[in-house]
Amino acid sequence: MKRRRTPPHTDVHWLSESGVIDCMVLLGPGPHQFFKQYADLTGYQALPPLFALGYHQSRWNYRDEADVKAVDAGFDVHRIPYDVMWLDIEHTDGKRYFTWDSALFPDPVGLQRHLQARGRKMVVISDPHIKTDPCWALYRDAREGEHFIKDREGQVYCGSCWPGESSYLDFSSSRTRAWYSRCFSLEKYKGSTPSLFVWNDMNEPSVFGGPEQTMPKDAVHHGGWEHRDLHNLYGFYQHKATVEGLITRSGGSERPFVLSRSFFAGSQRFGAVWTGDNVATWEYLRISIPMVLSLSLAGVAFCGADVGGFVQDPEPELLVRWYQAAALQPFFRGHAAMETKRREPWLFGEEVTAVIRSAIQQRYRLLPFWYTLFHRAHTCGLPPVRPLWIEFPTEESTFTVDDRYMIGGALLACPVTEPGIQEVQVSLPGPEEVWYDIHSKKVYGGGGTLRLPVTLDSVPVFQRGGSVICRSVGSGTCTADFQLLPLDITVAINSQGGAEGELYLDDGHSFCFRDRKAFSLRGFSMQAGRLLCRAASREGSFHCGTVVQSVTVLGMKKPPSSVTLYVPGEEDRSASFEFVEACGVLTVHNLELRVTADWEIHIC
Ligand code: GLC
Repeated sequence: MKRRRTPPHTDVHWLSESGVIDCMVLLGPGPHQFFKQYADLTGYQALPPLFALGYHQSRWNYRDEADVKAVDAGFDVHRIPYDVMWLDIEHTDGKRYFTWDSALFPDPVGLQRHLQARGRKMVVISDPHIKTDPCWALYRDAREGEHFIKDREGQVYCGSCWPGESSYLDFSSSRTRAWYSRCFSLEKYKGSTPSLFVWNDMNEPSVFGGPEQTMPKDAVHHGGWEHRDLHNLYGFYQHKATVEGLITRSGGSERPFVLSRSFFAGSQRFGAVWTGDNVATWEYLRISIPMVLSLSLAGVAFCGADVGGFVQDPEPELLVRWYQAAALQPFFRGHAAMETKRREPWLFGEEVTAVIRSAIQQRYRLLPFWYTLFHRAHTCGLPPVRPLWIEFPTEESTFTVDDRYMIGGALLACPVTEPGIQEVQVSLPGPEEVWYDIHSKKVYGGGGTLRLPVTLDSVPVFQRGGSVICRSVGSGTCTADFQLLPLDITVAINSQGGAEGELYLDDGHSFCFRDRKAFSLRGFSMQAGRLLCRAASREGSFHCGTVVQSVTVLGMKKPPSSVTLYVPGEEDRSASFEFVEACGVLTVHNLELRVTADWEIHIC
């Protein structure tokens, strides 16, 4: 008798604590279409302000103003770019959010201006629990305004969190959200300035000693809804109210930045999330990758994990590997718990400092590419980091890979997540593809498995043949330097000699890209030795002085005899170039071509 093969199948079942489950089937047919369909249902990723894609420095807690200034200066002394200093719960007066500890932070405005003068920002924490303190105006206001969740008897619910006995704002009510949003106005939030941004934590909501560390399911929200109905939306609504508060604070002109620990389908419309309290172990470093990939698949594309591990002290090698891995993830923040030893990047000797510096600098150089990917997430729903199967949906061998992934369609990232490694094994997808090691520029065919030697300062990353990537030349001290830095364009040609890519530009902080179409989307295409720079969208206009300084072409078969530049309205000119025969790399220097203008480079 012939045995019948069972067709592959997947069983899924859902349980609901209350109410109905809405089930939507998205038909794709491919992964790229799926993301658009999902974003049409739940919303597109908010375009972050550029600074939010830089490196963030946090710990629980930076002690006082002098400590913050010293850490800020440390980054400059050690030539490590960074954008944001974070203050955890100890910056407040007794865990009363929207206040400052007047002994430790007597001049918060001065401190923010000090950072802002260097182009840097500050983020402070604002949790959803409000300390029970009838002497505190904000508590009284919330109580009198009926903004707290009630218990089943109709009394204001009291639970315990960082401040001790606390009540919880009812973000499910639009009236409470509007009240909370107003708390972020510059007038109400004493000591805040426009360069202060926000972190919503403990918003599952977290209740110490509560059932499952949260609120009783029969606590009652606005409209008589029980907590069991709204639990999963609690953090979503706090995130929304905070974002609206920051937008209103700026008169509607500035993009907000808010990080939230709790989220729901659609939280991508508000900002960033992180994976919560992790541990300084190799295992936690490893799982940060599938966690970030899962979040990205679920549409929440601006995500990351605490670099170094939140609790316990990372050994220097783990810290280095974590910086290198996280520099290749969307949200990039070092954070550490109260009891941990200090771990600013320069505290472990020159070798470690140099490797971390290099990882962060490379992140900054790649920001033109990251920003362009976030523009794509914002307009098409495609997440910047993607499991391999999204780019190679017909290749079954990629379906289970969750330790390597794609950044956009162009880069294959292979972070090192094991100690004492001297070699990594990398399977390059796509038998018809060509891949270029971004460091050695060596070319490899797809479909095979490589063994690549690695040292403490190397992380394998490959550029896919057929792609064009823009990087900044130099990294600056923070993203405020971004538009001043010229670009280097790397063209990685495929087996037919072609390549394509794009670059998104705008002012990096306002909503003018949306309201006045003040943006520019440039397209680069290489075909038969001609690289064209053109508008990639009929919409948008943005003028900036950013120039393309050099073009690197990977995969040239033979040395060119000439390289000529064609710029409309200018005389044709030949460009100086260098060709490295051994790896087929052509570099064209001193171009000074405006990236928002049309031009062509002919390689003969
Ligand atoms: C929570 C957060 C952590 C934060 C701490 C104190 O554990 O997840 O990031 O440092 O609370 O606010």
